[in-house]
Amino acid sequence: MSARRPVADWATDWDHTDPAWIENPFPIWDDLRKRCPIAHSERFEDGAHFPSRYADVREIAYDTEHFSSRRVIVREKKFHPIMPSPPITSDPPEHRPARMPLLPAFNPKAVEKLTPGTRAICNRLIDGFLAKGACDAATDYAQHIPTRVIAHMLGVDEEHGERFRRWIKMALEEGIHDNDKVMQSLKEMTLYFKEQLEKRGTKPGEDLISFMRDQRIEGQPLPPDKLIGTLRLLLIAGIDTTWSAIGASLWHLATHAEDRRRLADDPSLMDTAVEELLRAYAPVTMAREVVKEVKVNGCPMKPGSMVLLSFPAANRDPEMFPNAERVQIDRKENRHAAFGLGIHRCVGSNLARMELRVALEEWLKRIPEFELQPPARVTWSEGTVRGPRQLPVVFPS
Ligand code: HEM
Repeated sequence: MSARRPVADWATDWDHTDPAWIENPFPIWDDLRKRCPIAHSERFEDGAHFPSRYADVREIAYDTEHFSSRRVIVREKKFHPIMPSPPITSDPPEHRPARMPLLPAFNPKAVEKLTPGTRAICNRLIDGFLAKGACDAATDYAQHIPTRVIAHMLGVDEEHGERFRRWIKMALEEGIHDNDKVMQSLKEMTLYFKEQLEKRGTKPGEDLISFMRDQRIEGQPLPPDKLIGTLRLLLIAGIDTTWSAIGASLWHLATHAEDRRRLADDPSLMDTAVEELLRAYAPVTMAREVVKEVKVNGCPMKPGSMVLLSFPAANRDPEMFPNAERVQIDRKENRHAAFGLGIHRCVGSNLARMELRVALEEWLKRIPEFELQPPARVTWSEGTVRGPRQLPVVFPS
């Protein structure tokens, strides 16, 4: 990882991998929204913009004419060659046919079937640390839930979770500064899925790998590179994201006793609480590449430059959400952008919501009282997905 220069001015030199941004980005975004709603930085090859208002993020997410998804991560050095992960890296007209085959696997009925198994996963994890009166809620609990759920869906060994998380860290965090890490992670994932496909051959199967193998677009199977690209995406998209949402929600409840007690005492608040925690701690920030000259909110953008598309910053815009800085677990009107906006809106949102809800419900049933372990060292991930990576908590055993 290259040494970082301190940020001179967030408006003209922003850096989403700066320790201050990683630790607590909200005051930075609030300041920028007031004085420079579309900030700029030359730290990234060909320059990158950072819109912090909901309206601007929305406009860009919906505008597939000027903004392409062929690059979805702002990196120091642009990444060549690009190994696509459809549909997230696809633009129209290729996007729709790449997305459609995924939908049945993540619809509400399919997700409902996964709910009892997810509850069992959560309870097995809690069994492992309850008697100790302490655990790391990020590494002993949150991270294992989406890893095990997706392993079960893909029909692969739960024990492979460690590898999955290493690949994701290389692709999404270390890869911002080091393109070799991205390549290594993509290559290892490709090999993994090739082996999984070979193992299955043409045998019918219920798992997501067999399901994707058997999909047909206009009568044709997905070409091998697209099939493997989509499987890589499912792994990348489903693990760190949900781990981060669960972890950040537990961090909030560990540090806000009033919300924790209210939610533990009144589970009917769970629906609004889940949405509010997703709004306030939205984990996923994507990017777009400008492909045609355009102005957004008066700011000119040139082809080749990147846009950091921060759904988390949009979610904190007080023009869209009154008292945006306050977490209100009974917030009624909440059209947050945590799952994105426009054609790329998250395919896995039903699954992610279920996992977050079940993770909080099962935790609160058995651990209604908990707090950070003093002197707590909470660390947050950097880059594309934000969530706690170390979250030591204590509770009565
Ligand atoms: C709390 C957890 C999650 C959050 C916050 C989240 C967020 C997002 C966001 C913001 C996008 C839009 C990307 C863009 O505009 O470029 C997206 C797309 C996507 N997500 Fe999620 N996601 C989560 C969990 C999941 C899960 C569990 C899966 C599946 C296993 C998943 C699969 C996908 C896929 C396939 C896309 C691409 C959709 C497309 O390009 O049409 N996500 N997600």
